[in-house]
Amino acid sequence: MNPLTVKINDHLTYIGVNDRYTHLFENMWPLPDGVSYNSYILDGGEETCLLDCVKIPSVGEFLDNISSVLNGRKLDYVIVNHMEPDHTSSLPTLLEIYPDIKIIGNKKTTRFLKNFYHITDNIIEVKEGEEVQIGSTSLTFYMTPMVHWPESMVAYEKSTGILFSQDAFGGFGTLDGSIFDDEINFEFYKDETIRYYTNIVGKYSVQVIRALDKLAGLDIQMICPDHGPIWRKNPEVIIDLYAKLSKQETENGVLIVYGSMYGNTEKMAEMIGKSLANEGIKNIRIRNIAEYPLSNLIAESWRYRGIILGCPTYNVGLFPPMDHFVRTLTKQNMKNHTLGYFTNYSWGGGAEKEFAAFAEKCGWDLLEAQPNVMGDPKEADIETLNQLGKEMAQALKEAFKDEY
Ligand SMILES: Cc1cc2nc3c(=O)[nH]c(=O)nc-3n(C[C@H](O)[C@H](O)[C@H](O)COP(=O)(O)O)c2cc1C
Ligand SMILES: [Fe+2]
Ligand SMILES: [Fe+2]
Repeated sequence: MNPLTVKINDHLTYIGVNDRYTHLFENMWPLPDGVSYNSYILDGGEETCLLDCVKIPSVGEFLDNISSVLNGRKLDYVIVNHMEPDHTSSLPTLLEIYPDIKIIGNKKTTRFLKNFYHITDNIIEVKEGEEVQIGSTSLTFYMTPMVHWPESMVAYEKSTGILFSQDAFGGFGTLDGSIFDDEINFEFYKDETIRYYTNIVGKYSVQVIRALDKLAGLDIQMICPDHGPIWRKNPEVIIDLYAKLSKQETENGVLIVYGSMYGNTEKMAEMIGKSLANEGIKNIRIRNIAEYPLSNLIAESWRYRGIILGCPTYNVGLFPPMDHFVRTLTKQNMKNHTLGYFTNYSWGGGAEKEFAAFAEKCGWDLLEAQPNVMGDPKEADIETLNQLGKEMAQALKEAFKDEY
């Protein structure tokens, strides 16, 4: 057998691939540790079934893996749990090589298959809770809309308790060496899993909670996601992490994000950081918006209860990178945050009004001190900056009483 495929049990084999070439996932999100596109072959004896495909640049390796596992046997089904092209762009090539294969999806999958790839034949549509026999085994399907796309669904093999969860319970990072949770150090993957969740799935946390509630009724022994490790020993670790992230249980800490052209606003950020430290706050991150990736800023915003944003006025509004960041935050549907903001100007100002509008839109607890400084901070400005730090520290001490 091809050593790059991994036997999971007597009738299930991993045939996924690692991608260390794509720099930006969805052409947006950095991939410093790469990403895996997981795929599986289920052997039901009489019949065989492929679960999800890989991104097209890896199609050669993918097809090699498939033929080595099939070893001359026929491929009967391919399940399309999720249509995003990181899992389907190799499907048309697969169909050229295995033209008789039946595609299992749902009503929405059919529409996507036609519009993405002009595929209209040999499609089997399954509904919520429907069971499909694959030789001597069977898969039951559950719809998980918006985790991560409208057509997303999961497949559950009840005889073994294996959940094929597509994007859910996935993370960034290639599978270097082992593919199994009990043979890796998950600490290597944890931050990249959080970044994956917050960047890719987080906006749909309400739907994630709904999906988790639905799947809670299943006896899940193993999770085979479409990205990241296979959870054969402790699936509850990833279920708990997803539950925590989807409920947006923020941690005690403050993320200060600033933009600054000539250093005045940066100085304000440093002063607020000092003020927080003087109040006993230990988890403080100060990030320069022009240097630090948006992707990581989203992950850190998700994480910390306290968010303080600052920038100079630029053409009567927010400094453009900050403008982009607050728009992104507005669309993230984030909860459980305390917000502070600070601004700098030298003409007539304007950034402060746009921060105020953002504060109203996101609805987070807003701190009263809102320093707006002309150029270099003076005595009275330093007072207000300290006040902002004190108010944030107070809010954290109330929210995390047991930590003080
Ligand atoms: C391109 C540009 C546009 C600006 N637009 C405004 C403005 O519309 N209103 C204003 O009050 N200040 C404006 N300023 C001035 C800056 O807000 C001010 O110099 C501030 O102190 C810069 O802070 P920094 O040192 O953190 O970069 C502008 C500055 C630049 C370079
Ligand atoms: Fe996806
Ligand atoms: Fe994906």
